[in-house]
Amino acid sequence: MNILHVSAECFPMAKVGGLADVVGALPKYQTSLGHDAKVIMPMHKTAFLLNHQWEVVHESDMYAGLNEIHFTIIRAREFNSNFELYCIDVHGILDRDRVYGYDDDSYRYLVFQLAVLHWVNSWNVLPDVVHVHDHHAGLIPFMMHHVYVFSALKNIKTVLTIHNAQYQGWMSTDMLMFFPHWDDWKTGLLMWNGQINALACAVKCSDKVTTVSPSYMHQLSYESNGLESLFHQEGFKCKGIINGIDTEVWNPQTDKHLFDHYNKDKILPGKQNNKKQLCEQFGLNEALPLFIFIGRLVDDKGADLLPALINLAFEYHSNAFNLIVLGSGQYNIEKTLESIQHEHPHHYRLCIAYNEPLSHQLYAGADFLLMPSRVEPCGLNQLYALRYGTIPMVRRTGGLQDTVLDFGDEGGFGICFNKASVGDILHGFQRALELYTDSERIETIRKKMMNINHSWEQSAQEYIELYQ
Ligand code: GLC
Repeated sequence: MNILHVSAECFPMAKVGGLADVVGALPKYQTSLGHDAKVIMPMHKTAFLLNHQWEVVHESDMYAGLNEIHFTIIRAREFNSNFELYCIDVHGILDRDRVYGYDDDSYRYLVFQLAVLHWVNSWNVLPDVVHVHDHHAGLIPFMMHHVYVFSALKNIKTVLTIHNAQYQGWMSTDMLMFFPHWDDWKTGLLMWNGQINALACAVKCSDKVTTVSPSYMHQLSYESNGLESLFHQEGFKCKGIINGIDTEVWNPQTDKHLFDHYNKDKILPGKQNNKKQLCEQFGLNEALPLFIFIGRLVDDKGADLLPALINLAFEYHSNAFNLIVLGSGQYNIEKTLESIQHEHPHHYRLCIAYNEPLSHQLYAGADFLLMPSRVEPCGLNQLYALRYGTIPMVRRTGGLQDTVLDFGDEGGFGICFNKASVGDILHGFQRALELYTDSERIETIRKKMMNINHSWEQSAQEYIELYQ
């Protein structure tokens, strides 16, 4: 099958969150299954872009309303993966330092989607499936079906994968002036509650809709930021498919970022050595259990709970552990996390950054990974933690609920709690600290976790079956 993935992010070209990891891995596994999978994304100005060789494969002009736009499609030359990665360059509009966060994002991503479709329109052999990810590519299924210039693409099947339904790509109807002519009768498909809503539009217009875990799929029908009734109505074509991880990138036996390598048959010395180096680097006592939080510092991830939690947990447990927080996000959360550093100078470290190598070192060196998410469609960090023998402490929601079983339950290995509240997380800390004193049990749990296979193979196959 010939598959085209359309996404705002793709690892290693540009990563803000888990979306990039999925779009950087799923096509790889689909190619291994014998299919032809490609990725198209905007040409963000990232280090990867600057450090790699690219070739121009297509150039053309198009209109967005009255604006005449020149776009160029480039392909990565020495891309260390088995699928083709393409980027769209629109000078001044897509070639910016950040992936999102500009005032004109609605326009930027509309231009991106128009360029994708103009490019596909020029192919001699059309793809069998156009697979769009999140709202940034959400207008594509509508445009393939109802915009006249793209009528040649009408019969291509479309799949939408929702990585996070909190963000929906709302736009005022003024944006319609940039759309090429479409069948007016279908305008309602673009709308939700009086606004253009790219995610809702994609749910209505795609042939199939998936999200990244079965539990989150279920959750969307009663908790999806205003789209609940839509999911009720369109439920017949929706499916939850759990994400996998790229087990080549995430492999403690070969990971180039680690201080020492280890595997499921011999865990302890390697893991300990990683912890030792990490603690030395951060000036922490390696004898204490090490907790980590990695992720975007936003309310959805429960990051706003961290300051109160940190203060209380250190007080209750008389500084009996260390904590490293890595991430960036909401300004107020970053500032509060920064301001409490001096209160716990020997036990708490904060890195406000996106740092891929450090994240690998943290998974390898830590004992526990904390994920108190309010919303977690799948979550990949807990899967990386499992692979590196680090015990996940998660809130029972979305994909966390589908992938982590509490060590108190039969066959379990993680620490689960019900609410994203400081009290519930504190209780989790207490259980973690007790567990830490039982080194034999920890060792058994680590082995169990490292034996779980969350590679993409199974889920990549599920997507193929869905396309078929
Ligand atoms: C988003 C979700 C996360 C998911 C990821 C990849 O970042 O918040 O839960 O794992 O997308 O699908």
